[in-house]
Amino acid sequence: MLLNSYMPVKLMTGAGCVRAGAKEIAKLGSVCLIVTDKVAAKVSGALQDVTDTLELNGQKWVLYDEVSPNPKLTECVAAAEKASAGGAEFIVGIGGGSALDAAKCIAVLAANPGMTQAQLYAFDWANAPLKIVAVGTTAGTGSEVTKVSVITTPDGRKKSFHHEAIFPALSLGDPRYTMSLPPMVTRATAVDVLAHCAESFFSRSANHISQCYAVEGIRLLLPVFRAMAENGCEELDYDTREKLYCASIYGGLAINVTGTCFPHTMGYLLTEAFGIPHGTACAVFQQDFYTYNRTVAPELAAQYLERIGCSEQEYFDLLEKLTPPCEITMTEELIAASHSRWVNNGSIAKCRGEFTADMADDILRRKFLAG
Ligand SMILES: [Fe+2]
Repeated sequence: MLLNSYMPVKLMTGAGCVRAGAKEIAKLGSVCLIVTDKVAAKVSGALQDVTDTLELNGQKWVLYDEVSPNPKLTECVAAAEKASAGGAEFIVGIGGGSALDAAKCIAVLAANPGMTQAQLYAFDWANAPLKIVAVGTTAGTGSEVTKVSVITTPDGRKKSFHHEAIFPALSLGDPRYTMSLPPMVTRATAVDVLAHCAESFFSRSANHISQCYAVEGIRLLLPVFRAMAENGCEELDYDTREKLYCASIYGGLAINVTGTCFPHTMGYLLTEAFGIPHGTACAVFQQDFYTYNRTVAPELAAQYLERIGCSEQEYFDLLEKLTPPCEITMTEELIAASHSRWVNNGSIAKCRGEFTADMADDILRRKFLAG
């Protein structure tokens, strides 16, 4: 039984945790760059809580609030320049996966002025990244507790890098910040949690500890999913939001050990080519992923359902009801042009059995082929 894992993040959750984390923030330096988008950090109240806390600590900040969904490398470069010009000693990311992943990339770039894309992805980092504080405002990404950053490079591809130096030093997860999310964002981010837990559970790299994280994440998630399937996502109370947020942390802990499998890799294509939100793009492949694993690892699939406390029928029903619409069509040309993405791919190699590029093509054809 293996428990191999590493997660050096100081994690604080619960209502008011940003203020409660003031002493920890104070240790990180006298000036920071706050990285966020135009809306979520402000509407959720997270930005106000962060700046109030910095002010109380006597710390200064510079604001970069132009992170877009699926953050671009060019944005990270601009933000890193702003960090350097402002003398930032640490980075505070506020938001969902986009802002938190951008914060990790900016932390590397700001410590290494002039770094090229090739150097970034080759880990040719002369200096250690700046310290990172992650303040989550969605219940989905799990980026708060991972060493992963996914950035869109200038060729339009989502490309990840994994490095222990980009674990946040401090993660602050106040579920109240998720109360103001639009229902569709709540739904698309919640199904990402399921994707993280499910893909981690079935990963070749899974071990006992990662499967405990994955199972606990889904066990927290299922009652919420049942309620959302019944009543929608419009009015979720604090307790429900807290369960969702904690499930997302468990999902992050799980993929931190294992990485993801084919639904995430294939989901990137839907996001890049059609702008489908990340969670939705990964969720649309979850039935295929479970069915595939039931074929190549039937005992594990049975164990999965037993441990999460869900029948196969209910699992499929909930996926059906909770996955947001993804009404796209693909051409044979696009499917053929994407074929090489599934060859020698790290996340696909994590799948059990032998998941081939032809299988990926078949799934895309069956789900999306025009006509
Ligand atoms: Fe994800």
